[in-house]
Amino acid sequence: MFGRFGMSFVLFMFLVGCSTNRDPVEVPSAEALMGGDAASGEQVFLASCAQCHAITDEMRTGPGMAGLFQPEGPTRPAGIDYGDSLPTGQPINEVNVAQFILEGGRGEIAYMPPSHLDTQQLADLIAYLKTLEK
Ligand code: HEC
Repeated sequence: MFGRFGMSFVLFMFLVGCSTNRDPVEVPSAEALMGGDAASGEQVFLASCAQCHAITDEMRTGPGMAGLFQPEGPTRPAGIDYGDSLPTGQPINEVNVAQFILEGGRGEIAYMPPSHLDTQQLADLIAYLKTLEK
């Protein structure tokens, strides 16, 4: 019905559509991630993170989040030490944590799937994560 060229075109548009979905997500700026509301962030955490992460130093599927934004970092399993970096090797800061949440990724423990959060949710979540101290 589309002819040979037509089918190629349809296929091409399909592939373009697929690859657009795989483009790196747009990560909000440090400024946009400041000034979030920790109480709202707690709700985001409960909905999107708590099934895999404790807010203490307890290891679940992923590391306990207490201390994430402190110099010593979160508590990881024995033998795993990213120091003050994320599993991706990037330093722990607001923008890199937001990027890790949006894109997902893996280190030596397991794969963390991406979470689709908007800038406000990320800012609130980061404000909340900063309250989790060891
Ligand atoms: C399906 C389980 C799962 C969910 C949901 C999840 N994570 Fe993770 N997360 C992991 C795993 C597993 C790792 C460990 C990756 C590694 O080191 O190999 C991890 C690692 C991390 C790290 C890096 C810790 C370090 O060692 O530096 C941060 C930060 C993090 N998660 C935050 C979050 C936040 C915030 C959310 C909610 C938006 C979330 N995660 C949702 C499984 C999950």
